[in-house]
Amino acid sequence: MEHTTLGKSGIQVSKVGIGVWQASDDWKAKDADVIKAVEKAHDLGVNFVDTAEGYGMGHSESVLGEALKQMGRENFVIATKVNGAHLRYDELQRAAAASAKRLGVKEIDLYQVHWPDPWEQIPLKYTMKALEKLYLEGKIRAIGVSNFAVRDLEEARSYLSRTDIVSNQLKYNLIQRDIDDEVTPYCRKNNISIIAYSPLAQGALTGKYSEGNPPKGDFRESSPVFAPGNLSQIAKLIEVLSSVAKEHGRLVSQVALNWVASLPGFIPIPGAKNAAQATENIEAVDFQLTRQDIEKIERAAELVKIDYLPT
Ligand SMILES: NC(=O)c1ccc[n+]([C@@H]2O[C@H](COP(=O)([O-])OP(=O)(O)OC[C@H]3O[C@@H](n4cnc5c(N)ncnc54)[C@H](OP(=O)(O)O)[C@@H]3O)[C@@H](O)[C@H]2O)c1
Repeated sequence: MEHTTLGKSGIQVSKVGIGVWQASDDWKAKDADVIKAVEKAHDLGVNFVDTAEGYGMGHSESVLGEALKQMGRENFVIATKVNGAHLRYDELQRAAAASAKRLGVKEIDLYQVHWPDPWEQIPLKYTMKALEKLYLEGKIRAIGVSNFAVRDLEEARSYLSRTDIVSNQLKYNLIQRDIDDEVTPYCRKNNISIIAYSPLAQGALTGKYSEGNPPKGDFRESSPVFAPGNLSQIAKLIEVLSSVAKEHGRLVSQVALNWVASLPGFIPIPGAKNAAQATENIEAVDFQLTRQDIEKIERAAELVKIDYLPT
């Protein structure tokens, strides 16, 4: 497995990681299966794993903690996130300690602000100062953010004097590329890694869902991506992905993931509900798409215009 450096941190992470949000009620996955997914990821050379205190109110972190007990914490770069309710100076430090406890670690490798303060009540300065304190105390190895626009990034960075933000975690996949106008160029220019979440558009880019067969029984029932009109547009892209996949002896999902992983500065963290999905996702980065493949895929993806209005 190829590795890449997380921003300016010197921390080496695998070219593809694994997201563990799946260990929460949101996804209806079994904890034991998610642990097996993390084990499989480790066997296949993945060392980068992402969770958040917000996933199942700490449950995802606890499940990951179980997995780490079995596999050895030293084999992983662990990323977690502080949620919007804990952005005050003192609360953030308590939240970090609680996350570390659930994960069973002394030090969190990458501690990320999950979202900019949704209520705009806590000055960002206090959040960033709290993060820098944790960094200087050796309780976290690097500071990251998530869902930050350029103005948020610039403000956040201006409050750090001893270290810098190493990553911005953002939604990114073939059909959701809103960040490319401003955030992507800014992050690349400033050596801030883009950790790509939902790289499979939450399953929409695997080819297994269609207008007549949307995901059932979880939050995706009300997700705009899976609304009938959108799924019928995505179907045309799936056809193209499928033809490219066939040429390489691969799966639709693997072509979609390979495309993200091949972009400079991007590290996808597909979520896996079980070991089989983890295997497919990790093996997605061990082949190369041709320039022609990429052009063909991007042309088809550009035609997909997701309608976010409620149906
Ligand atoms: N920072 C943030 O705000 C934020 C937001 C969202 C996610 N994240 C992080 O990013 C990670 C990944 O994003 P995500 O979970 O939203 O979306 P994703 O990785 O695009 O999709 C994950 C889902 O796709 C399906 N899937 C995965 N691998 C598959 C395969 N090989 N074949 C067929 N289906 C497959 C599974 O659901 P089904 O089998 O049920 O279809 C799985 O739960 C999360 O675990 C989390 O760590 C962060």
